[in-house]
Amino acid sequence: MKIVTVVGARPQFIKAAAVSRKIREYSEEILVHTGQHYDSNMSELFFQELHIPSPDYNLGVGSGTHGKQTAEMLQGIEEILIKEKPDYLMVYGDTNSTIAGALAASKLLIPVIHVEAGLRSFNMAMPEEQNRILTDHISKYLFCSTDTAVENLHREGITKGVYNIGDVMCDAVMYYSNLIDEKSKEEYFADLKYIFGERGAVERWYLSTVHRAENTDDVSKIKTILSSYEKLDAPVILPAHPRTRRMIQQVNDELQLKNTICVEPIGYLEMLYFTKNAVKVVTDSGGLQKEAYILDTPCVTLREQTEWVETLNGNHNILAHINEADILDKILNTRVSEQKENYYGNGDAAEKLCSIIFSEGNHE
Ligand code: UD1
Repeated sequence: MKIVTVVGARPQFIKAAAVSRKIREYSEEILVHTGQHYDSNMSELFFQELHIPSPDYNLGVGSGTHGKQTAEMLQGIEEILIKEKPDYLMVYGDTNSTIAGALAASKLLIPVIHVEAGLRSFNMAMPEEQNRILTDHISKYLFCSTDTAVENLHREGITKGVYNIGDVMCDAVMYYSNLIDEKSKEEYFADLKYIFGERGAVERWYLSTVHRAENTDDVSKIKTILSSYEKLDAPVILPAHPRTRRMIQQVNDELQLKNTICVEPIGYLEMLYFTKNAVKVVTDSGGLQKEAYILDTPCVTLREQTEWVETLNGNHNILAHINEADILDKILNTRVSEQKENYYGNGDAAEKLCSIIFSEGNHE
């Protein structure tokens, strides 16, 4: 059995770290990196830190408009699929690399395995929502992380090949969070690559990431978010995605931020450390909301909707509108329930995935 796995963006490297290790116990895997994320701290760092096997192919597609970026990936992946003739193609999540991989395979009648299927924000203006819906409708195996995701697929008439295996990112959090105590707090802070803000270890901190197009493409939104951080009771560590960094630098000239510690993107173990030990997480990322939930850190999500609706129960996660009063109110005044359910599995999602694809009855 041969599987081609396509990855391209940061969260996909983390998911592949959890799944590839298992897949390779059963099958040959060819790893294709589209090159969507290409800065070393957005890509290489993860491969090294998480011991992900080196990609067999790197398409080096880089940045561009959605159409151009996706088209270049589609063309490159198609060539690889024709050459490698895999039994399956596997993709994760909802990025442009996901839809490009799924579409290339589907046209060649290679069955598609979609991991993290069935998520919906019900906001078609998000490129991710378009990518995930289209990918789900051309997939043969749809591995969902939650019952909500299974129900979303059923509502769209997709019932065959749908499995709730738990969340592969939860596998990664459980596996790698055992390794985060190997460094001291002072070492974690010393290793940060500071862009601006206070240097050295601080006692308490909020951790924030902001990178969604809906927040970063509008300078007034970034301004609102950062000026609300100025009024918090502890500094905000903000590892900045390259696009966000450009926007923040413009805003910083005007706002002269004092309470934000802006740093270069950090590795996965660092992210787990700073998340686990933060007062709260404030983010517009999908994955980080869930990581915060699993690591028991309350989260405020800077979006109008979330795909991870379960995290909202008991206010472990809460949505904030992009205005200063609401952001501050949600960060400072939200009471979080002591009770918490385990919605994302026990860290064995990758194992379950393999037992389904590689079980006798499922061989093509
Ligand atoms: C992509 C995903 C998003 C995911 C995110 C994870 C899509 C549509 N979006 O968003 O769902 O949450 O990855 O991080 O696929 N850039 C660099 N260096 C890099 C990567 C990006 O400078 O290594 C800059 C470029 O200016 C680029 C911009 O960031 O134009 C956006 O990058 P892109 O890969 O298009 O989307 P992301 O915003 O990272």
